Amino acid sequence: MDVRSDFPILSITINDRPLIYFDNAATTQKPKQVIEAITKFYESLNANVHRGIHYLSREASELYEGAHEVLAKFINAEFEEIIFTSNTTDSINLVAWSWAAQNLKEGDRIVLTVMEHHSNILPWRAIAKIKGAEVVYADIDEDGIPKMEELEGLINEKTKLVAISGMSNVTGAIVDIEKVSKLAHEVGALILVDGAQMVPHMPVDVKKLDIDFLAFSGHKMLGPTGTGVLYGKKELLEEMPPVKPGGGTIRDVTLEGEEWAPLPWKHEGGTPNIAGGIGLAEAARYLMRIGMENVREHEVKLTERGLKLMENMEGIVLYGPRDVSRRGGIISFNIEGMDPHMVGALLDSRGIAVRTGLHCAHPLHYRLNAPMGTVRASFYIYNTLEEIGKFVEELKDIVGLRS
Ligand code: ALA
Repeated sequence: MDVRSDFPILSITINDRPLIYFDNAATTQKPKQVIEAITKFYESLNANVHRGIHYLSREASELYEGAHEVLAKFINAEFEEIIFTSNTTDSINLVAWSWAAQNLKEGDRIVLTVMEHHSNILPWRAIAKIKGAEVVYADIDEDGIPKMEELEGLINEKTKLVAISGMSNVTGAIVDIEKVSKLAHEVGALILVDGAQMVPHMPVDVKKLDIDFLAFSGHKMLGPTGTGVLYGKKELLEEMPPVKPGGGTIRDVTLEGEEWAPLPWKHEGGTPNIAGGIGLAEAARYLMRIGMENVREHEVKLTERGLKLMENMEGIVLYGPRDVSRRGGIISFNIEGMDPHMVGALLDSRGIAVRTGLHCAHPLHYRLNAPMGTVRASFYIYNTLEEIGKFVEELKDIVGLRS
């Protein structure tokens, strides 16, 4: 994929080696188009939105509203269904403290899986505790994919919500969301998808998948940090009270009461991250120009090559599906007898950035019998087969350092 020249940071060196950036599941790098959109906003258009009749405020409002349109197009949603948040965690918490706080009752059930990121566990446990609801977890199979028959068994008439990741941030395991959404809807439950890893890496159509809520981050899809999205079906967002009532969320306030602003503004309390939203829209436009099918295809090639080179390497333990059609562009592994942090530090000394540790998914690592964590290489559009080759060469060398 011929995009590298758009990413200024890719030309730096780390420890005198050209940077190989394989920490994309933590955050991605930013193309100059995104950086320039943010700079241009601050240099020539900066003003608050929805609060002024002057030229700059009108222009800023138009750009910020347009950014919601772009994100709606990106996942095939409607403008009113796109709430800008600060990240996936923020998006999931919005649903927990608004929809779940209003609708959960004692004895209700929330179904999760053992592969969830803490952001898709802790908000549910917190609200379930207050409401007297229970949280249950479906196990994973040997590939790290949530077992469908377990989900089927756990999703019953008590279930109000199934909250599940579309793609694991550790194993890259891809979940059949269309199927889970059917299971949830059959019993009258809703489905929330943690799309932090799924949305940046494959085409997502919320209508086709029949998703009720979708949470994702801007900074994992070429956008700025501090940006995220909560998609929700319009009728659900309409019913939900704002969790951040305040400036920007109302049409009118009297001493007796208030009338909320129309969607999506009702859920975006306070001056929003205007420049961030504009940058995120530029990132989404960039990805749409490439085509999300092509993003996915590129990552499948990289992952396939990486797995092929690593699977027979002595001392390497691989996690996640071998079948790349069930896996995103993530390879988590360990070197037998070596602390994952040590492996990460050695890779860093050779210019290769990976993440090491428990990746905010402790229960999954305990389930995988990797309590010290894993080393995670995660790819994106600007990574190359050549980089995969260099990475594997360095790994071989590191494996050889074991005493
Ligand atoms: N959730 C991010 C990761 O997996 C930060 O690295």
